[in-house]
Amino acid sequence: MTIVPVALDARSYDVRIENGALDRAGELLSPWIRRNRAVIITDAHVAEHQLPRLQATLAGIEQHVITLPAGEATKCWAQLEALTDRLLELEVERGDNIIALGGGVIGDLVGFAASILKRGCGFIQIPTTLLSQVDSSVGGKTAINSRAGKNLIGAFHQPRFVLIDPDVLDTLPLREQRAGYAEVVKYGLINDAEFFGWCEENGPALLAGDAAARSHAIEKSVAAKARIVIADERETADLRALLNLGHTFGHALEAETGFSDTLLHGEGVAAGMALAYRFSAAQGLCPAEDAERVAAHLRAMGLPDGLKAAGISASGETLVEHMLHDKKMAAGTLPFILARGIGQSYVDKQVSLADVAAFLNAEPR
Ligand code: GLY
Repeated sequence: MTIVPVALDARSYDVRIENGALDRAGELLSPWIRRNRAVIITDAHVAEHQLPRLQATLAGIEQHVITLPAGEATKCWAQLEALTDRLLELEVERGDNIIALGGGVIGDLVGFAASILKRGCGFIQIPTTLLSQVDSSVGGKTAINSRAGKNLIGAFHQPRFVLIDPDVLDTLPLREQRAGYAEVVKYGLINDAEFFGWCEENGPALLAGDAAARSHAIEKSVAAKARIVIADERETADLRALLNLGHTFGHALEAETGFSDTLLHGEGVAAGMALAYRFSAAQGLCPAEDAERVAAHLRAMGLPDGLKAAGISASGETLVEHMLHDKKMAAGTLPFILARGIGQSYVDKQVSLADVAAFLNAEPR
């Protein structure tokens, strides 16, 4: 069992990582249960697999379950309205902690609902995918999608507790495990070359279900994320932005595929990281062998390492156009996360979009 504290003054909380934690959730969540009531929000898929385990541990507690459709489309105004209406009907109070049981969609939607319900109530994250365990459940970014793009309507609202049970990943499809693994690799590439080396050695075992490798990767990732969030909670100091490594290129690929199951977010991030490294190498910023090492590892893990593997045939100009709708645009410029080598990422605000388009046009299709 590992506890990673996220120290943010009055908004501080712990992330508890423990195999089998879901079967002890009633006891572990008890400090946050008020009025002997638990309101759990989940999706139809998780409701089948994990909800009964959580509910069994809450025996004796009045339970209300709100089950939403699984999938990205749930992060929308209509579901947010329905959810907040239901929470008001249930008379959830500011001091209550609603429970998000699910992946990134449920965590983001419930977190955003909690941020606006009665001007803010508490919430607890119980993430059930690798991606949400190593990234989205920690750090307080909450959002829904709008017609104009993904995650454009949202708020920073920290959870009051995050409970991670790596064992729940046993039932997660391999494709989703791989997509989440891309975010694990990201922490090595941002600022921890040694951890990237660990990933190269242990990634295959992790995806094959090795519990020790999986727990180690989750602990390292959460600790790395917590350090960054503590130092730059609202992404104002060019530090939290590093967590967007691969996301600007990846966003363009996801937009090109309609933010659909054709390319999962983590797959877009994987291809985006390989592209960010190759672009850095093409600009003479990073050794070409480091860029190749990144791509080779992603390929070895069954993740896309560029446009071709991601099934993208669009021109560089079209992809750059998608990038311009990124929410990170500031004063007409788009910050890119580039790298000087493995574990040496940095924010670059001077990148020429014409150079990016030319680089993408030269990438194999
Ligand atoms: N997923 C990026 C962040 O939390 O900042």
